[in-house]
Amino acid sequence: MENVTLKINNIEVTVPADYTILQAARSANIDIPTLCYLEGMNKLGSCRLCVVEIKGARALQAACVYPVSEGIEVFTNTPAVRRARKANLELILSNHDRSCLTCSRNRNCELQALSEEFGIEELAFSGENDPKLAIDDSSTSYIRDNNKCVLCRRCVAACDNQVVSVISCINRGFDTTVNTAFEKPVSEVSCIFCGQCINACPTGALTEKPHIPKVLEAIDNPQKHVVVQTAPAVRAALGEEFGLPMGTPVTGKMVTALKLLGFDKVFDTDTAADLTIMEEGTEFIERFTKQENLPLITSCSPGWVKFCEHYFPEFTDNLSSAKSPMEMFGAVIKSYYAEKNNIDKKDIYSVAVMPCTSKKYEAQREEMSSSGTFDIDASLTTRELAKMIKQAGINFVDLPDSEFDDPFGTATGAGVIFGATGGVMEAALRTVYEVLEGKSLENLELAPIRGMDGIKEASLEISGKEVKVAVVHGTKNAKELLNKIKAGEAKYDFIEIMACPGGCVNGGGQPIVSAKKRALVDVRVERAKALYSEDRNSALRKSHENPAIKKLYEEYFEKPCSHKAHELLHTHYTKRSKY
Ligand code: SF4
Ligand code: SF4
Ligand code: SF4
Ligand code: FES
Repeated sequence: MENVTLKINNIEVTVPADYTILQAARSANIDIPTLCYLEGMNKLGSCRLCVVEIKGARALQAACVYPVSEGIEVFTNTPAVRRARKANLELILSNHDRSCLTCSRNRNCELQALSEEFGIEELAFSGENDPKLAIDDSSTSYIRDNNKCVLCRRCVAACDNQVVSVISCINRGFDTTVNTAFEKPVSEVSCIFCGQCINACPTGALTEKPHIPKVLEAIDNPQKHVVVQTAPAVRAALGEEFGLPMGTPVTGKMVTALKLLGFDKVFDTDTAADLTIMEEGTEFIERFTKQENLPLITSCSPGWVKFCEHYFPEFTDNLSSAKSPMEMFGAVIKSYYAEKNNIDKKDIYSVAVMPCTSKKYEAQREEMSSSGTFDIDASLTTRELAKMIKQAGINFVDLPDSEFDDPFGTATGAGVIFGATGGVMEAALRTVYEVLEGKSLENLELAPIRGMDGIKEASLEISGKEVKVAVVHGTKNAKELLNKIKAGEAKYDFIEIMACPGGCVNGGGQPIVSAKKRALVDVRVERAKALYSEDRNSALRKSHENPAIKKLYEEYFEKPCSHKAHELLHTHYTKRSKY
């Protein structure tokens, strides 16, 4: 790519010719405010908060869409620029429900931050947003409050990027809203509840369905034995909510905080991830040996499972029948754990902390009640856990480390890496190889299936046979791969699919990162580093070596995929239509 040189605020800047003025300014460390722009995803030029003056041009131009060219002179901080940006923001605010004090995004809102930055003290215009727009809280996973929407369309772009596209702008002028087709409740369209729209939203228009009240109620009820499990990706991101650098693992502090919050037992979902590998790995060996129902496709991402059910129902028989680690753990807690500790399962309240909004939906699927009650009673996001910690006045950063509780406090490095794209496959292969080959796998780190390429492939020789695997993250890449398989252009034995781009580390329930920061760092890579370092430092790195899992099979399930294991740890799927 050839370069061009332009001047921004009289400073010479040389950048690739396909840059926009915004990218050129950012490369020179010159700040331009943005609202609707989301790097690599949403480039509409609609909010006009990024306007700049270009010498010789008749009007101000939006820096996020205006291409650079040789010799142009740009000014980012003239009186005309400042006036126009402020007026545009005042117009946006005029039609906005400005209830910051009670808003889920208070103090973490891009709109609020811009108001402060622009020095908005009173509003020059009043809007038409009266009566209030209806709030859609029909889904199990999230709430849409269009009174807080600034029509930036970042959520629409995120949903399109997931190739789900169930939301779009409807109507004109003051009547414009982001909505589903025919304004159906979101529970009645084929949304996969991945929450990528929430992560993309600069305001409080999109929020997860709150589970904090019912969790606190259970903790306060002396009759209830409240257990909590935490998914691997949570520990890789929770620290961000307390100002720690992205990618700081906070496992020990998180466990201490959960104990301080009053949970009776704090367990590690990684242990259940090891259990999932035992069940799914055995299922793979059975199917691969018989060459039946291949490729086997992982099923621990509920967003992906829902995507498969709606958009690729012909692949539901390929999905692993093994439940997700969260659900397996729920079932084990309400059966084995309840019986062993002589607790009535009706008195157990089972909470999961997940990086995911779709887990709230998974927890309420009818199939997830094999123990006789729902396996999981509440599923908090990483953000909700952070809120609970802050509300309890816990000084998270200075907390000492604690260990998870027994009997499910021991996990392996294989369980930890579940949170990053490629991690489930890597964990499964560590076990499948050793079971089939009967000898140790030399190199535990499978580089070809790590990293952020959308579709990753690897081929291994196990027991004299070639095993072809693929790893995809983001439903856009899943669609591409499944269409290739359907067309006979690709063939695999085993596939890992995660709904969220980057896997669970970038799930819809993780701490919100502003568009500006996302343009500077790859959130997925930074958070994944925390998980890979925990794996590298683990004494045990293979699921079948986990003593807690060995004991569970000895005392309860007998062997992987036994009758009892099938009853409690496996599930089935439903072919659905698109709507
Ligand atoms: S979306 Fe932002 S500006 Fe609007 S009420 Fe919430 S915190 Fe305040
Ligand atoms: S949750 Fe996912 S599928 Fe549903 S609207 Fe948001 S981005 Fe689209
Ligand atoms: S819901 Fe959020 S992301 Fe979507 S258009 Fe409104 S403000 Fe933008
Ligand atoms: S128009 Fe450039 S950020 Fe919105």
